[in-house]
Amino acid sequence: MKLVSARDMLQTARKEGYAVGQFNINNLEWTKAILETAQEMRSPVILGCSGGAGKYMGGFKTVASMVQAMVESLKITVPVCLHLDHGSYEQAIECMDAGFSSVMFDGSHYPIAENIQKTKEIVAMAHAKGISVEAEVGAIGGEEDGIIGNGEVADPQECKLIADLGVDLLAAGIGNIHGSYPADWPGLRLDVLKEVQQLTGQMPLVLHGGTGIPAAMIQESIALGVSKINVNTELQYAFAQTLREYFEQGKDKIGKGFDPRKIIAPGMESIKATVKEKMTIFGSINRA
Ligand code: 13P
Repeated sequence: MKLVSARDMLQTARKEGYAVGQFNINNLEWTKAILETAQEMRSPVILGCSGGAGKYMGGFKTVASMVQAMVESLKITVPVCLHLDHGSYEQAIECMDAGFSSVMFDGSHYPIAENIQKTKEIVAMAHAKGISVEAEVGAIGGEEDGIIGNGEVADPQECKLIADLGVDLLAAGIGNIHGSYPADWPGLRLDVLKEVQQLTGQMPLVLHGGTGIPAAMIQESIALGVSKINVNTELQYAFAQTLREYFEQGKDKIGKGFDPRKIIAPGMESIKATVKEKMTIFGSINRA
């Protein structure tokens, strides 16, 4: 099956009241674990690739070729979208040429007029190729792969200006943060989300910083138009913890326990379990 844009997938999710998970990939094993889980759960899925992860894996072309080939070789039949996460203008263009089916152009750090102009140009280029576009208003807090945001709360009127450019999905900062939330985090600004939803109609909204948001708050945000939820750090925590246990228990010293495939296997199982748990909360199981 060919990679699909996020457009139809998320419009359906928006209409039917669930969200599709964007799970960020770091390597081949991450990709395989997420794809196999999506297939097993009959869930549509979005693989997110940041600029840093793309560079780590040998470039966006390598990533797109790997994902396309793996979807084919593993006989994945659920809809799979390969999406650039927090891309610059140049990265968005590079990914469109490399074979990504969706791109995020994150112009949230530009003055709004410049964000509008650049987003408009990306939308025209992407739509000519059937590629979907995510735009952002109001930076997401925290740090992800070198992208640092101050955790601004988006101005709903600015969200409307960007939504009207014909983007396919819109990320609005509503007090969400990449990575763990501090103990005194006051929670998502659902009041702002509601205003954004009222102004942008049926636009699928995106919730970044999915790690550590309580399930009830996730479900409230889905009811207010969130159709895509990004999860990255939580998969990394699960993987790291499982590998730590593997070494602490000396499993690498037993038999062929030093084989990298044996070392990584339990880490992949913990990624799968985390993805399953998220898909259940997001309501995307049995939707494909
Ligand atoms: P977390 O790392 O907090 O899960 O956020 C992921 C994200 O928003 C990717 O864009």
